[in-house]
Amino acid sequence: MNVLILHGPNLNRMGKREPHIYGHMTLEEMNDRLVQLGAKWNMNVTCTQSNIEGELIHIIHEAEGRFDYIILNPGAYTHYSYALRDAIASVEVPVIEVHLSNVHARETFRHTSVTAPVCQGQIVGFGWKSYQLALTAIRGFTEEKTN
Ligand code: DQA
Repeated sequence: MNVLILHGPNLNRMGKREPHIYGHMTLEEMNDRLVQLGAKWNMNVTCTQSNIEGELIHIIHEAEGRFDYIILNPGAYTHYSYALRDAIASVEVPVIEVHLSNVHARETFRHTSVTAPVCQGQIVGFGWKSYQLALTAIRGFTEEKTN
């Protein structure tokens, strides 16, 4: 099971960026935890981050045939990037959208996700554990397939 965790814009600023919203953990610390958890569950977890819309699109295209799942935090692109949405819709790889913060409890522009409708599902509001929950879901789907 190969899982790509893809972080969008400004997530490289985790730990420094608005810690009252996003917490104190750095992206590197979070990625380490997720890779370790994946290893425990027999998943090969690869983490990557980009601030550039086109690069995220390219990474999603390239994920086809290489990854079984993508866990994607599109950052602010969530709210307006039709290009990212089309990229997700264009690949066979299922995508789970995650957000650290509860976007529905924040500014109204964050209540809309243009990407979620083409994802398998969305997990929001649990800090870094939103990603952990996405890995848990993938683990569950895999177990269902093998049992
Ligand atoms: C975010 C929520 C977005 O609204 C915001 O633009 C981000 C982070 C989150 O993980 O909570 O960059 O995706």
